[in-house]
Amino acid sequence: MEKIKVGVAGVGFIGAVHIEQLRRLPMVEVVAVADPFDATEKARRLGVQKAYDSTFEMLEKEPLDAIHLCTPNNLHFEEALMAFTKGVHVICEKPLTTSLENAKRMSDAAKKAGLIHAVNFNYRFYPLAYEMRQRRLSGELGEVYSVHGSYLQDWLFLKTDYSWRLESDISGRSRAFADIGSHWADLVSFVTGLKPVEVMADFATFHKTRSKPLKPVDTYSNMMLTPEDYEEIPIDTEDYAAVLFRLENGGRASCVISQMFAGKKNEMRVLI
Ligand SMILES: NC(=O)c1ccc[n+]([C@@H]2O[C@H](COP(=O)([O-])OP(=O)(O)OC[C@H]3O[C@@H](n4cnc5c(N)ncnc54)[C@H](O)[C@@H]3O)[C@@H](O)[C@H]2O)c1
Repeated sequence: MEKIKVGVAGVGFIGAVHIEQLRRLPMVEVVAVADPFDATEKARRLGVQKAYDSTFEMLEKEPLDAIHLCTPNNLHFEEALMAFTKGVHVICEKPLTTSLENAKRMSDAAKKAGLIHAVNFNYRFYPLAYEMRQRRLSGELGEVYSVHGSYLQDWLFLKTDYSWRLESDISGRSRAFADIGSHWADLVSFVTGLKPVEVMADFATFHKTRSKPLKPVDTYSNMMLTPEDYEEIPIDTEDYAAVLFRLENGGRASCVISQMFAGKKNEMRVLI
């Protein structure tokens, strides 16, 4: 059987995870990666044959069946549109893109091309999430009156913690909610089968400015620098979000999302 040829764009924290997971599928072959930073070295480290400096060049030159978009958020839209014009299926990391309008355009382009366009909400595939969904589908849970929970991390607790996620032109206008709140909201919809119809939120930005390192820092690496290695920049995305939802069945949902919650490395809770 001919293998499904996959290219992975963006080989940082999650791109490497995608490659690792794809390796476990016998019918898939990761044939190339694309990354403007050290693509050849990243490909070598991950045992991938070909490396490109640009996603567009990879799409132009490689006969791919599918591409995994593991690049920063602002790049997903253009990359996906080009993939669809090349007849390539797209698995895109969340958040799908940085605006609702572009998300709709991506979805329309995929439908028009007759291609798969999936977004990677990976928490759906945890056994606990499946179990909760199954209990809801079987009727065991009964009616859903209210859902409550949180997604808490602390990797952006310090003013010197930095990532491209703090820059709204790369990350989008929402940060904590788009980055991890999107997982919470997706999981609630997946488990309950209910969509939100109205929403109200309180966002807060605790660090109004942050110290941006003048040299690259890997995501979640906790790398330490000295004071002269930083510049002060204003922050216009939220560290914290408290969100109320009205669900389509008249039920309610509420959550607290924070990337500055000391002591919580990566904790998601969904209580029904
Ligand atoms: N589903 C999840 O649980 C999960 C977890 C982490 C990240 N993500 C998502 O994955 C995406 C990447 O996040 P990350 O944490 O891996 O970031 P990262 O910074 O660790 O990696 C991003 C990679 O993209 C590369 N890159 C930058 N510009 C590029 C370009 N023009 N073309 C190709 N590659 C480029 C960078 O060099 C880097 O290697 C984001 O959209 C993020 O929201 C999802």
